[in-house]
Amino acid sequence: QNKETLYEQIGGLERVERLVDMFYSNVKEHPALYPIFPDDLTETARKQKQFLTQFLGGPSLYTEEHGHPKLRARHLPFPITRTRAIAWLSCMEDAMDEIELEEPAREEIVQRLTLTAQHMVNTAEE
Ligand code: HEM
Repeated sequence: QNKETLYEQIGGLERVERLVDMFYSNVKEHPALYPIFPDDLTETARKQKQFLTQFLGGPSLYTEEHGHPKLRARHLPFPITRTRAIAWLSCMEDAMDEIELEEPAREEIVQRLTLTAQHMVNTAEE
């Protein structure tokens, strides 16, 4: 009975939205991250809600509006170091704690996001 997607397991759009809102409130406070993000994260958060929905097996909201994610290419304008990838993941794990995301979904999502975050690294440490 493991046919349910991660998106369904965690509670669908409402849960993804809470996770992403908490995540960006952490990003805003992180000294390694906020300098490379826009001041107004409204649009960034809206896109991330769409992306994570489809990443977790829900409807393809991101692709419907923006086309193929090509995430690594879309991140090339930003200097993403290994330190920033670790910081990104720590903001995400803190957000998961804050919304009390339950196991086993939490661990599975962390593992997938860790691989994706490592793939975004495009710059040596400053
Ligand atoms: C956009 C940083 C990892 C998904 C962005 C933007 C920055 C950024 C600066 C542009 C924000 C804007 O202009 O609105 C980082 C850093 C990462 C990271 C430092 C560390 C590894 C990830 C990961 C994912 C992701 C792991 C997916 C799980 C996205 C999406 C967008 C985005 C969907 C919006 C792309 C678009 O403009 O359509 N990220 N990111 N990012 N990021 Fe990341």
